[in-house]
Amino acid sequence: MSPPAARTLAAWELRVHLGAHPVLYPLIRGLGYLRPVQRIPGLGILVSEAGLLREVLMDNERFVKHGPSASGGLWTPVVGPKALLNMDGAEHHDMRRLLSGVFTARAVAGIVEPAAARLRGHLAREVPAGRRVDLVAAVKELSGGVIARILGLADDAPGRLPDRDLFDIGTSITSQVRLGRHALTAPQIAKARTAVGLLAGPARAAYREGNGGTFPGRLRELGMTEEEALGVVSAFVIVGTETLVSFIPRIVALLHDAGLVPELATDRSALPAAVNEGLRYTVPSPMMLRDAVAPGTLGGVRFRPGDRLLLSTVHAAKSLGGFDPARQVPGHARQLWFGAGAHFCIGMPLAMAQINSTLESLLELYAQQPWRIAARKVKRRVLIPGYDTLELARA
Ligand code: HEM
Repeated sequence: MSPPAARTLAAWELRVHLGAHPVLYPLIRGLGYLRPVQRIPGLGILVSEAGLLREVLMDNERFVKHGPSASGGLWTPVVGPKALLNMDGAEHHDMRRLLSGVFTARAVAGIVEPAAARLRGHLAREVPAGRRVDLVAAVKELSGGVIARILGLADDAPGRLPDRDLFDIGTSITSQVRLGRHALTAPQIAKARTAVGLLAGPARAAYREGNGGTFPGRLRELGMTEEEALGVVSAFVIVGTETLVSFIPRIVALLHDAGLVPELATDRSALPAAVNEGLRYTVPSPMMLRDAVAPGTLGGVRFRPGDRLLLSTVHAAKSLGGFDPARQVPGHARQLWFGAGAHFCIGMPLAMAQINSTLESLLELYAQQPWRIAARKVKRRVLIPGYDTLELARA
């Protein structure tokens, strides 16, 4: 990559982070360089080094996710106690085991492909005709289409909401969370419960129908109760939307800014490494939270039961260096952006299918009709950093 391209790329990524967290981002990165573990009064214990992050994530005896100030606990009043991301121990392990066969390649294709085909068609129609396409809006549609399938809604289901509306309902649940806030307020819980209620209707109907071709029907076949299946469906809608709407436009911007698109359009062999490096460099889920339930020492800092740990994935991953698809990531940091241990991202196959299908469509299009980024705007004051708009136009 040429030095000017590297500078443009890094400048946009920095703007994305600063747009979301103008004070916290520089603070957390600065503190990360200062010490691997440190107590921040009023916030918790900040952990910034990849090996120590992994140590916490792998230790389910001393650190839990369902505690009152860890992220899992935040969701319990909204989605109930059995939503995977707020469970720990044997119960969580049993549910993960039940779900282990749920994302076969065929099942993932069934969930992603209908919406991916709509996105492909949209790009192929609009860009060659000289019209701009906002990739952020397009990925929101994709994500809404995936939500529809997770709820068990067929494309032609009577009264089915449009993809964009489904996305907006999903995002109205997550958009209320802010870093540093330990719990949702009563009005936020009420708003989020209304949204979950809207989505639960079709999922419950699909579960009761018991057709294994739908996602809720498959959960029933696996032996889940209705309450468990609805918890899992809600978890997938909550966790799976914002991260992808953040990441997909950002990886497209990275590949574009690095000047890699023309080469990838004719030869895809370097694409998997570039996507993986893009995940490391952008860290779509920048922070994980845990509650300590036993005393101990981490990186020389003592912790007590009740302490909140802020796991700074964003520093642990980004401090390895600038965007470089040829990078060899050290073992202890590998895939840390998808977590580690018991709570490792269960939606990764679904995420990768949406990422890869969108990139394939864009590269296929580029081979026919080269495009460029014509305009972009970063999001301001949001939990998950990203672009607000990323407009593609005929080159
Ligand atoms: C680029 C996209 C994504 C990234 C970077 C990402 C990242 C993560 C991370 C870091 C965790 C672990 C959190 C923790 O340990 O506290 C996680 C968990 C989870 N992810 Fe993802 N995720 C992505 C996409 C998705 C998608 C598309 C879905 C589902 C549709 C999903 C569903 C989940 C669920 C349900 C969990 C909780 C698992 C558990 O607690 O057992 N994720 N994800």
